[in-house]
Amino acid sequence: MEIRRVVVIGAGQMGGGIAQVVAASGREVALLDSQAGATDRALDAMRRSLGRLAEKGGPPADDVVQRVRAVDRLQDADGADLVIEAVAEDAAVKEEVFRQADEVLAPHAILASNTSSIPIASLAAATRRPERVIGMHFFNPVPVLKLVEVIRATATSDETAAAIVSLARDLGKVPVEARDVAGFVSNRILMPFINEAVHALAEGIADAEGIDTVAKLGFGHPLGPLALADLIGLDTCVAIMDVLHEGLDDPRFEPAALLREHVAAGRFGRKSGEGFFSY
Ligand SMILES: NC(=O)c1ccc[n+]([C@@H]2O[C@H](COP(=O)([O-])OP(=O)(O)OC[C@H]3O[C@@H](n4cnc5c(N)ncnc54)[C@H](O)[C@@H]3O)[C@@H](O)[C@H]2O)c1
Repeated sequence: MEIRRVVVIGAGQMGGGIAQVVAASGREVALLDSQAGATDRALDAMRRSLGRLAEKGGPPADDVVQRVRAVDRLQDADGADLVIEAVAEDAAVKEEVFRQADEVLAPHAILASNTSSIPIASLAAATRRPERVIGMHFFNPVPVLKLVEVIRATATSDETAAAIVSLARDLGKVPVEARDVAGFVSNRILMPFINEAVHALAEGIADAEGIDTVAKLGFGHPLGPLALADLIGLDTCVAIMDVLHEGLDDPRFEPAALLREHVAAGRFGRKSGEGFFSY
């Protein structure tokens, strides 16, 4: 199946990045967000990112951005072959988006989710096309990181999986298939790592700078776990851990109290200007 037109729902840091790489591959993208101003902010961030990439030999920013069209309603993107959903990590919100996309889009369209942790089967159940529902999990920052986790639910068809694997490769990404279990592979590993770093901080084992330096210089990570949590968004980290904790029924995945405190106080990391570090 050929994917030429894509609608990205949710124009936050992930949705904007996904729209950018899809447009850079020559496809037409419609970008939709429920919050006023979000698509404009995403287009501005896209121009800045493409400007930096153009200096390193990437395509001219204007060529890419002209293929991204902000839309107010899903009905304005009804010619799409694929939806990539990147709204907040909340199962009820995502299920409603899937229900609406199923209603509005052509029967051939694939509905993919960029969820970090929510089982794809629960999103598929909100539609009448479970064979065309799949997880397509990108990594942050999307234009830079090469991995795409591809998650097939029980009902996902071979044709749908093949189309998404082929698209991921065409975007210059490396797809890795994972089973449809809360958190898949990536966040099953990453979230306990981040959570343990937060526990270490709360216990005063080292300060935030020290903890991140251990991971950078000792483990060779480009970013320490606390700076990475700030980049992902502390609200998103808590939402992911709640899904892992509930879905895997394991106390290891319970978010650290300090993480919840930051979120309750509106300190979401980079996107709010304050988290474990200041921005
Ligand atoms: N942040 C990361 O590093 C990262 C990495 C991989 C996957 N993800 C996943 O990507 C998704 C989005 O994360 P993000 O970091 O971009 O979040 P974000 O908070 O930056 O953006 C979410 C956007 O979705 C919009 N939105 C919310 N409900 C909507 C609806 N019903 N319809 C349309 N738009 C709606 C919001 O207005 C916001 O602009 C989440 O599922 C998250 O788990 C995040």
